[in-house]
Amino acid sequence: MNTPYRANPERYSTIPYRRSGGSGLKLPAVSLGLWHNFGGVDRFETGREVVRTAFDHGITHFDLANNYGPPPGSAEETFGALLRADLRPYRDELIISSKAGYTMWPGPYGDWGSRKYLIASLDQSLKRMGLDYVDIFYHHRPDPETPLEETMAALAHIVSSGRALYVGLSNYPAGLLRRAATLLRELGTPCVIDQPRYSLLDRHIEPEILPALADEGIGCIAFSPLAQGILTDRYLNGHIPEDSRAARGGFLKPEQITPERLDAVRRLNDIAQARGLTLARMALAWVLRHNAMTSVLIGASRPSQVLDAVAATQAAPFEAEVLAEIDRIVAPLQP
Ligand SMILES: NC(=O)c1ccc[n+]([C@@H]2O[C@H](COP(=O)([O-])OP(=O)(O)OC[C@H]3O[C@@H](n4cnc5c(N)ncnc54)[C@H](OP(=O)(O)O)[C@@H]3O)[C@@H](O)[C@H]2O)c1
Repeated sequence: MNTPYRANPERYSTIPYRRSGGSGLKLPAVSLGLWHNFGGVDRFETGREVVRTAFDHGITHFDLANNYGPPPGSAEETFGALLRADLRPYRDELIISSKAGYTMWPGPYGDWGSRKYLIASLDQSLKRMGLDYVDIFYHHRPDPETPLEETMAALAHIVSSGRALYVGLSNYPAGLLRRAATLLRELGTPCVIDQPRYSLLDRHIEPEILPALADEGIGCIAFSPLAQGILTDRYLNGHIPEDSRAARGGFLKPEQITPERLDAVRRLNDIAQARGLTLARMALAWVLRHNAMTSVLIGASRPSQVLDAVAATQAAPFEAEVLAEIDRIVAPLQP
């Protein structure tokens, strides 16, 4: 891929952009995460094709974190290399996010939610990516020991110092999210987005978190909307393909692909086929059925998976009886 990259001139013609809560920021209905497939252990040219395909189809939002790899930090280095190789001329068309909150370096300052950790970590992330600022910076998980006031003040400082344009929260339970939103508003740096896990196999955000986001005017970007690949045709025939995430040994363990889940996934696949969709497309369209859902945050090991997700944004709306049938299938599987 030595020819200079020129983005597809038609890139803004397919995918819709949705406003993140009450903010001025719009995100593509599909965003691409670099948690897997972009580490130092992965093939650079494959990641490059995936990112080019995404941007060529209007996916302007790329999600990172300090610890993505492996090894930790290497996904940000890969993204820095992709910016230098291909995307630098398009910086003002990109929303690049990073996070800190999980273990990153040894000692008391490389984890959780202190001001010391968040600011030092973001400075490292900016260096790895070769950026002056990120568009969104998240606190990756709540810290039970650091005062919430300190963590939120650190996020506000990160914005006022020019290191990030917006702040977000991830993995916060509803009560804490509401308190954090109030603090951030008081500090003049409103939270623009929450990043929780959400899919057909994990609806835990529906009773409390989604109402909290609506009340607070915060957008929502759902991570692992395909349950790391379980909600696709990857494992449908009961076999674990060698090149799949479950086979590579990491966060998705073969034992998570249980007979009960497979049975439900096959029934969902029948519904998808009757609608002329792949299972992945239907699973993503199902997450996007909420008007308040800003974006689905997918992972992809190859360009075709990005295209599948882009196509999901064109799926027809669900009829009430189909939604009810889906509810019945997934209800017994909820965590
Ligand atoms: N905030 C947090 O705590 C948190 C936690 C987790 C993730 N995230 C973010 O969310 C992003 C997405 O998470 P995720 O990777 O778990 O998302 P996901 O979309 O649920 O799973 C992605 C995986 O599913 C498979 N896949 C995707 N599309 C497919 C298709 N059309 N057909 C068949 N298989 C398909 C691929 O696996 P194969 O390798 O098997 O091809 C792909 O790597 C991450 O990159 C990260 O940015 C955030």
